[in-house]
Amino acid sequence: MMKLWNQEAAQWRLELSMDGEALSLRMGDAPRQMTVALGKREDLNCEILRQAAAKAVKSVRDLGGESAVLDAAPALEALGEEGLAALALGAELAGYRQPDWKQAHKEQKPFTLYVAGAPEGEKAVREAAVLAKAVCFARDLTNCPANRLTPEIMAQRVTEAAKALGLETQIVDEKEARALGMEAFLAVGESSGNPPRLIIVRYKGGQEGARPIVLVGKGVTFDSGGYSLKTGGSMRGMKGDMAGGAAVCGALFALAENRVPVNAVAVIPAVENRISPASFLPDDVIGSMSGKTIEIGSTDAEGRLILADAITYAIREEKACKVVNIATLTGAMARMLGGVAAGVMANDDAFFADLQSAAERSGEKFWRVPDYPEYKQLIDSPVADLFNSSNDGCGAIAAGMFLAAFAGETPWLHLDIAGNAWSGKLSQPYQPKGATGMGAATLYQLCKLMGEKV
Ligand code: BES
Ligand code: MN
Ligand code: ZN
Repeated sequence: MMKLWNQEAAQWRLELSMDGEALSLRMGDAPRQMTVALGKREDLNCEILRQAAAKAVKSVRDLGGESAVLDAAPALEALGEEGLAALALGAELAGYRQPDWKQAHKEQKPFTLYVAGAPEGEKAVREAAVLAKAVCFARDLTNCPANRLTPEIMAQRVTEAAKALGLETQIVDEKEARALGMEAFLAVGESSGNPPRLIIVRYKGGQEGARPIVLVGKGVTFDSGGYSLKTGGSMRGMKGDMAGGAAVCGALFALAENRVPVNAVAVIPAVENRISPASFLPDDVIGSMSGKTIEIGSTDAEGRLILADAITYAIREEKACKVVNIATLTGAMARMLGGVAAGVMANDDAFFADLQSAAERSGEKFWRVPDYPEYKQLIDSPVADLFNSSNDGCGAIAAGMFLAAFAGETPWLHLDIAGNAWSGKLSQPYQPKGATGMGAATLYQLCKLMGEKV
């Protein structure tokens, strides 16, 4: 929890200081002092502050500390409000602990970060606190096992949180999805006894009637692979195959709570991909809301099927001016980029540039992959309009090309976070064990930027 301007109560002191040429984040009062080195003053940036604050808070907590006061003035002076926000966000995200269901569950001691010394930075700190809460909401959903987060439960939890913020929500059930022609979404979703839900959250903070930016998040609450069954080992972690859906919710909640002037909508196709007598099969040819037919090469390439219909829904029903989809989509992207950057495909250079600006503010990293027309052949099918997997490698690009066909002319970004949903060896100190919430902060910044542009 972050509090402002009450330093008396804090046990520890965090202080950004200059020691000759080198900067450091110093903690504690005599006799206990700790220093996090920040490097040279001229190299200082927001990411360094984010990481340093995270390390500092972790150390204080490991020593049993429950509060610290952060002297904000030097950070504000060095890097302005963005620097201060980075420091606050890093500190707040580092304190996250994943939920557990142990009988002997121990509540985590709350940690309070007091911020002092720069009253003009209050707004930036408050904004960062809201963003941190949103990222942790995304982490909590992602960490939740599939038996405790079915599509129905996900819809309930999102609705509850959205209502508390005064957001409009709509849940499309399987009957309504059928009426909308969402055959690709249903092909996957009807493979489970836990029925599918299309979750829609609308935030109207911008001009009345202005078309919204729509964030589409993959919401596979568990991905067994279906009849193209995953192996035991590769099935672990697939409770987190709704990390994209969680991220778009987080982004929208932060926009609402910070009253950012923009119209934004989150659309989450939530399904379980598993095996039942009625499941779809490899070689099936299915329809989609767009009218395009799809040959199933693998039932394990389910993400692009539900996203295809959700993208069509975003364009047709929500009148999206721009679409961003985010998904734990391909192992190929995860293998290529590891846990550091997420992969991106874009059909619009200017929109991709906006993503890069947003990512500079959030500290998350994105790397663009090509969408050369030659790659379209990867998803050719002899019997349908499209093929849902690829026989010729390039798995990450094939998935992107598939989605691009549904985005059409609408400016669109595809973020593949398969390698980033879980914290791992290459993660940052503000990404503790468990889900990272990757994408929520960048999508928030991207929507905010879109709002600033109108
Ligand atoms: N959810 C997986 C992708 C994934 C893999 C996420 C590893 C996180 C970690 C996705 O639905 C999937 O199974 N993709 C397949 C596609 C293939 C069958 C064309 C893959 O990447 O192997
Ligand atoms: Mn899959
Ligand atoms: Zn999946």
